[in-house]
Amino acid sequence: MAIPTETVYGLAANALNKIAVSEIFKIKNRPFFDPLIVHISGIDLVEQYAISFPEKAKKLAEKFWPGALTIILPKKDVIPDIVTSGLPFVALRVPKNKITLEILKSLDFPLAAPSANPFGYVSPTNAKHVAEQLGDKIPMIVDGGKCDIGVESTIVFFENENPPAVLRYGGIEIEEIENTIGKVKINISSGSKPQSPGMLDKHYSTTTPIKPLQNIDKASINKDKTGALVFGKYLNFLPHKNQIVLSSEFSLSVAASNLFEAMRDLDKMNFELIIYENFPNQGLGMAINDRLKRAGTS
Ligand code: TXA
Ligand code: MG
Repeated sequence: MAIPTETVYGLAANALNKIAVSEIFKIKNRPFFDPLIVHISGIDLVEQYAISFPEKAKKLAEKFWPGALTIILPKKDVIPDIVTSGLPFVALRVPKNKITLEILKSLDFPLAAPSANPFGYVSPTNAKHVAEQLGDKIPMIVDGGKCDIGVESTIVFFENENPPAVLRYGGIEIEEIENTIGKVKINISSGSKPQSPGMLDKHYSTTTPIKPLQNIDKASINKDKTGALVFGKYLNFLPHKNQIVLSSEFSLSVAASNLFEAMRDLDKMNFELIIYENFPNQGLGMAINDRLKRAGTS
């Protein structure tokens, strides 16, 4: 079943049931080395699934849950290995969407849920996105409208005695995390066998090639066949109808909430190329830049 969250829609199954979890991998065509996030209804449940809950992790959870923050902790045996790709750590998150929180509260098991898209494609931010790609493969989509945040959760890894490390930029800004627990390591992986297994270079991809504006030779592109994803203002060298402005008020949060939908819409317009503007590398701009860069990695 697909569920709405404030970040993106998730494809959910009983996290304690290996067979149910294996269906998620099958439906998404997701490699088994890419572990899943386990969604719980509240901070009180952490001790059921994690061996330890360090002070700093607790501080983050208290401040940002329910919300766009995933915390990775040493796992208890109740979490099947298939969920964590054999790693001794489990990723936990309390999502903010009201309906999904009600569902979680009514269940006596947590929900493993990756984003509800085929592996490698752009994450879904409304129920229609899920229906278009997975509608014939899953029994139910809970329609919770458009996701407020629009990019996935920020992931913070608490590896035993090591200092906390951010593995993925996301809906909670690094600045806010550091204001709560002090300096963190930034360990955003790249490469084909990264430490955070799902963080492959190529991810969140459109079918149409996508490139940053600064890598483009404007003279050599076919302007009618080029789409653009821009922050607040149209580019003057392309037709307006080929462009999507993410936030005419230059708001990073509005831009993030429109990002994946805009990528999907441009991908349907049969362009040869999509170009994008880099965003200010701060706050949510870091998550937006990360997703665009990965979408463009070949
Ligand atoms: O906002 C979100 O986090 C959304 C919603 C549905 O909650 N979920 C999401 O899941 O983005 P997914 O599967 O698309 O990304 C989860 C990523 C994995 O690819 C991996 O990088 C990391 O979380 N992850 C999960 N468990 C991990 C673990 N035990 N160790 C290291 N990384 C882990
Ligand atoms: Mg995903």
